[in-house]
Formats: sequence, structure tokens, C-alpha cells
Amino acid sequence: MDVKGIVLAGGKGTRFRPATMATNKHLLAVYDKPMIFYPLSLLMLADLRDILLITSPRDVARFQDLLGDGSRFGVNLSYATQEEPRGLPEAYLIGERFLDGHPSCLVLGDNIFYGQGLPTIITRGFTRKSGAGIFVCEVDNPQDYGVARFDSEGRVTELLEKPRSPASDLVVTGLYYFDATAPARARTLTPSARGELEILDLATQYLREGQLSVEQLGRGIAWLDMGSPDALIMASNLIHVIDHRQRLKIACLEEIAWRKGWIDDTTLRQAADVFADTAYGRYILRLLA
Ligand code: DAU
Repeated sequence: MDVKGIVLAGGKGTRFRPATMATNKHLLAVYDKPMIFYPLSLLMLADLRDILLITSPRDVARFQDLLGDGSRFGVNLSYATQEEPRGLPEAYLIGERFLDGHPSCLVLGDNIFYGQGLPTIITRGFTRKSGAGIFVCEVDNPQDYGVARFDSEGRVTELLEKPRSPASDLVVTGLYYFDATAPARARTLTPSARGELEILDLATQYLREGQLSVEQLGRGIAWLDMGSPDALIMASNLIHVIDHRQRLKIACLEEIAWRKGWIDDTTLRQAADVFADTAYGRYILRLLA
């Protein structure tokens, strides 16, 4: 059964810590394109074309204006709203009808993944029919993330959200695979001490049943979440360096769709027009040339 994609880009905008931030952070530019392009591109690279974007009621029209129905870049994009940021598993309550019994891949709207062989690594995480999959990565500030605890044989025994004393430096990234039972399981969750439904509580249900696959992202893959101004500038710098030194754009949605044969030259040219005289538009034109 086809895997569907969900991008979670809600929050009140103020989730991006400067309290004055009036816009939804996922619409901010990360170097040359809006943040939301990066998680979207990840789902596309994994060949997921039925995608639900969940955002706040206040911002949904702006995402629709930016991305439309997705046909410009060869996907079927639908939208849903989350009233308040009540936690990541709420995506499964909101998205239940969209999923319609399909397994899914959930990506957080502020996560960037980049590196060689990424599509293979992520699809490997969700080739299983039942169960769930998470991706862990080594960082030097594990206390800011979900942290995995391992036994002496390297098996994950526990997942803890932002622990004061992390049991390891391996943290859970914002990319998850869940089988078709996720919406029913999400209904059984209760809010944590911080008042949110916790994605790690959902993953822990699978872990306890021996149904959680854990894939470690190695040195070939860069992962960043853009939850702070520092992280945002770091991500912009990374994308900028790769763009200039390799002359390659990361997360050019139209390019991914075109290379996969989801859109033809004419649609690609129309996309170049949308971005008119920008570096992004010129890059698209260069592909055609
Ligand atoms: O980035 C990876 C981390 O993401 C994981 O290590 C953690 O286990 C996971 O809980 C999450 O932690 P954060 O503290 O970074 O989550 P945050 O509340 O900042 O939200 C992450 C993204 O999801 C952000 O793009 C906003 C969006 N979001 C969040 C919540 C709680 C929503 O759209 N709705 C929500 O209800």
C-alpha cells in the first residue's frame, strides 16, 4: 500500500523564539527558498506524492498561495489546519481521513536533511508493512531533542524527550514512519507534563512491541532543525556553500519533479516564470538549457 506524506508546519509562529516573530517560521527563507521547501523535498525524494501539509488556520492561505495544489512540482498537495500546537502526534488525528488506512512518513517543517544516498536511507526505513521507523543522529546538544537510550548490544531501550541528563548523544530527528495503526494509537495518548501529545510516546508504543526500527544517520548525512535563530543561520550557510561550490540547489522542488519525470519541460519552464528573475528561476532555466 502506498505510503503517504505529512509535513507538520504549524505552531503559532512564535515557536521561533524571537517573541516578535509575526510570520510562520516555515515561510522564512533559508538562503534562497522558504524553509518549507526542505522537508517537502525530502518526501519527494522518497517518492511520496500524496502529501498533506498541516499548518495553523492563520497561515494556511499563505502556504496555499506559495505551493498551490503541488502540480507545479508533480505532487498532490492537500492542506489541513491545527488550531493550536498541541503536539506532533496530533498530525495523526488531523490527518486520519487523508491517510485513509495508508502508512505514512511524517516530517517536521523545520527539519533539513542533506547528503549522499538519502532517498535510499529513508525509504529503507519504511519498506516494512507494519511497525514504525525513526532516524537518529549524533549531536553535541542532545538535551534539546528526543534522546535514545541503548543497551549493551546497541538496541534502543527507551526514548526520552529533552532529558536533563541525556543517556546518549544520539537524538531522534524529525522524520518518522508509522504504519496504518498510527491514528488509532494517537487517540490513546495523553498530554505530557509540558502539555503536549508526544511523538516519542507514540514511537514508544511500537518500541515496546518490538516494532520500531531505528536507523542511524551517519557522517554522510547532515541533519539540522531550524528551531532557533542560530540554527537558521547555520542552515542558510550550509545551503549557501553547497549552492555556490557545487552549483547544485538543495530542495529545488521543480528540479526533483522534473528529474523524476513527474513534470515535463513545459511545466518546468512555467515554474521558472513563477520565480521570474531570481537565482532560483535562473537555475531552473539552466536545467532546461
Ligand atoms: O527536530 C527534532 C525534534 O523535534 C525531536 O528530537 C523531538 O523528539 C521532537 O519532539 C521535536 O522537538 P521540538 O522541540 O523541536 O519540537 P517543536 O515543538 O519545536 O516543533 C517541531 C516542528 O513541528 C516545528 O516545525 C513546529 C511543528 N509543530 C510542533 C508542534 C508541537 C506543529 O506544527 N504542531 C505542533 O503541535
